[in-house]
Amino acid sequence: MKGLILSGGKGTRLYPLTYTRAKQLIPVANKPILFRVIDAIRDAGIDEIGIVIGDTGPEIREAVGSGDRFGVKVTFIPQEAPLGLAHAVKISQDFLGEDRFVMFLGDNVIQGGISPLIADFANHHDWNSQIVLTRVDHPEQYGVAQLTAGGRIERLVEKPKEPLSDLALVGIYMFDHHIFEATAAIKPSWRGELEITDAIQWLVDHGYQVFPHIHTGWWIDTGRPDDMLTANSLVLEELTPEIRGYVDSGSSVDTRVTVEKGAEVIGSTIRGPAIIGEGTRIVNSYVGPFTSIYHHVTIENCEIEHSIVLENSTLCDIDTRIQGSLIGRNVELHRSPIRPRALKLTLGDYSKVGLL
Ligand code: DAU
Repeated sequence: MKGLILSGGKGTRLYPLTYTRAKQLIPVANKPILFRVIDAIRDAGIDEIGIVIGDTGPEIREAVGSGDRFGVKVTFIPQEAPLGLAHAVKISQDFLGEDRFVMFLGDNVIQGGISPLIADFANHHDWNSQIVLTRVDHPEQYGVAQLTAGGRIERLVEKPKEPLSDLALVGIYMFDHHIFEATAAIKPSWRGELEITDAIQWLVDHGYQVFPHIHTGWWIDTGRPDDMLTANSLVLEELTPEIRGYVDSGSSVDTRVTVEKGAEVIGSTIRGPAIIGEGTRIVNSYVGPFTSIYHHVTIENCEIEHSIVLENSTLCDIDTRIQGSLIGRNVELHRSPIRPRALKLTLGDYSKVGLL
């Protein structure tokens, strides 16, 4: 089997973070989501992976490289514009050939990996496709499936105004080569995209064997900032803690904390689950639960929890606790010594600031 990861698209719902960065490269628990997806596919025994890329392709190519560091061989497949998930499959036909494959959306995080699912599909040669479904609170935001009384797929609709069920399509799909007949036959939807949901419906309508798998663990489509924070919390909960950096005797570090190599924790309290990245310095501060501080960050005289801070940022002398925040790269946040005491902000387009 081969793997296909979709990492094109624009990521507009995560602006301003994704103005300058591919959303699939934003880290949760200090590892980019795309790397988690590659690891999950590799762990399922697949070592040939195609990655569909769009405008942010150069950054993704640079971050992933040949795939060697993950133990896989990566082929990049440029998509001229985000014309839909089924369009991404269509343009990957040369790479996929006649092989069966798993397609994984590059911005999805799922509990428990995908090895059992892949094994299931690999062992059933008569299955043309397997899709993953899970129950959600707002099905209208996803592709939605209606099943027959016997548990077979009856209908699939992309982001329906009036959902037929609460079963959403998770961004993991398995196909054989018949999917190319479907992607050639369907027409763009009202939003101008070739929908994978329509392609799967085409398979069902034409008598191909499509099986649903109901996923019961957690699953996050990291489209919005709150989703990133939720995914971060869930992954942190599952991390095996490890202290590889320096923690001084004046600090108190919880058992569920990872301190990566080259990090320094001085005169600070860290409550887990939390992770402190490589080369980061936490001085005289409190880092609370569900917080990921990426590499080469400085945090001094601050309190922060339930947040993500990206690389090379500095947070200094803030006397209000920072909570539920997603702080980008190279951000400087500090108390200004200049009077009058006022907010002095340099914020990019679409920034969001919640003041007391
Ligand atoms: O996350 C699950 C949902 O993903 C499913 O329930 C929906 O049925 C499915 O259509 C999809 O909906 P989204 O609106 O969330 O898809 P999004 O546009 O966010 O794209 C998902 C990933 O695929 C993302 O990493 C970008 C990439 N992509 C997207 C498009 C439209 C591409 O690589 N090429 C594309 O043309």
